[in-house]
Amino acid sequence: MFLKNCWYVAAWDHELIDGRMLARTLLEQRVLLYRGDSGQVVALADRCCHRGAPLHLGRREGDCVRCMYHGLKFDPSGKCVQIPGQDVIPPKLGVRSYPVVLRDHLVWIWMGDPERANPDDILDYPFLRSPQWKGVPDYLHYKANYLLIVDNLSDFAHLAFVHTHTLGGSEDYAYKTRPVAIERLERGFRVERWHMDAPPPPFHRKVIPDPQQNVDRRNIGHMHIPGVFFLESLFAPAGSGAEKGHLQGAREYRNCQFMTPETRRTTHFFWNYLNNFEGEDHNISRSLHQSLIEGFMEDKHIIEAQQQILDEDPEFKMLAVAADAPLSHFRWTLDKLIRQEQEGTRPVAPGARQPDPATAGAAA
Ligand code: FES
Ligand SMILES: [Fe+2]
Repeated sequence: MFLKNCWYVAAWDHELIDGRMLARTLLEQRVLLYRGDSGQVVALADRCCHRGAPLHLGRREGDCVRCMYHGLKFDPSGKCVQIPGQDVIPPKLGVRSYPVVLRDHLVWIWMGDPERANPDDILDYPFLRSPQWKGVPDYLHYKANYLLIVDNLSDFAHLAFVHTHTLGGSEDYAYKTRPVAIERLERGFRVERWHMDAPPPPFHRKVIPDPQQNVDRRNIGHMHIPGVFFLESLFAPAGSGAEKGHLQGAREYRNCQFMTPETRRTTHFFWNYLNNFEGEDHNISRSLHQSLIEGFMEDKHIIEAQQQILDEDPEFKMLAVAADAPLSHFRWTLDKLIRQEQEGTRPVAPGARQPDPATAGAAA
């Protein structure tokens, strides 16, 4: 039910500080994550091959981990390198290790065939490494299938109803605006939506000097397989011509959200909401972080309730409306890739690393 041969976010790097042994279930597999003394990030199956004790209760030794039941020691490749009281170690004895890459504060993991893991395929988000974009990386746990969160992010119309008093601003957003563009991509989609001459939504109002002035608002969302969402938001003074590229006085946000299935019913949700205008005033990031948590709790509330309803009646069939075109495309694409993977025919599509926004001038 999951796409295996692709990169998922397993953790933020700050979750592995101070020698933490992080036990995390990913795609219904128990994984132990830690950073060794050398700085190397290690991901091992969180089950000792001897008697099945969890390795996250073990002890880190350099880049290795020792199971604290009977003392077997494993290196970062998962190979058993010591058995107390036994001189000969069978060469195949060990636990599964997963390819991991630390990039731009994210720990990416490959849950499929390790032979096919190519770090060049990792989705790139240059704003996470650009010093002019600031934010607070965070994590939320959902009791819902990750595709319900993907669905939620696919349709900006929900801003109007779920987030009227936080991220949305008014129900007008749903009635007066439509996507101006929906692009189906090979591994996802792009949607663009404008809302002209409206009061700034509450989260933005809190961090701008003139909260009374109406704004023109543009959202561009990109959803990527397996469940990675990038959102570019622009707020410009109403009538300033932002839709023609005049960005005087505009403020921008870059929002990334990474959905990784924990189980078929639960999801790890990693996110950061970045702005490029706070300068030295870190309270802007804090305010936005706070507002976004409020907003995400609204999503979580309705999505988790939706999951419960869906669980009660597996026969229930959802009905699509016009706004569901992107999410239908996404699910169709994902199903196709999973099918191809299971049939052994799926090619691994490359992802491209993008230039740094500071040097590419994309951060205007
Ligand atoms: S269960 Fe791990 S060493 Fe025995
Ligand atoms: Fe939402």
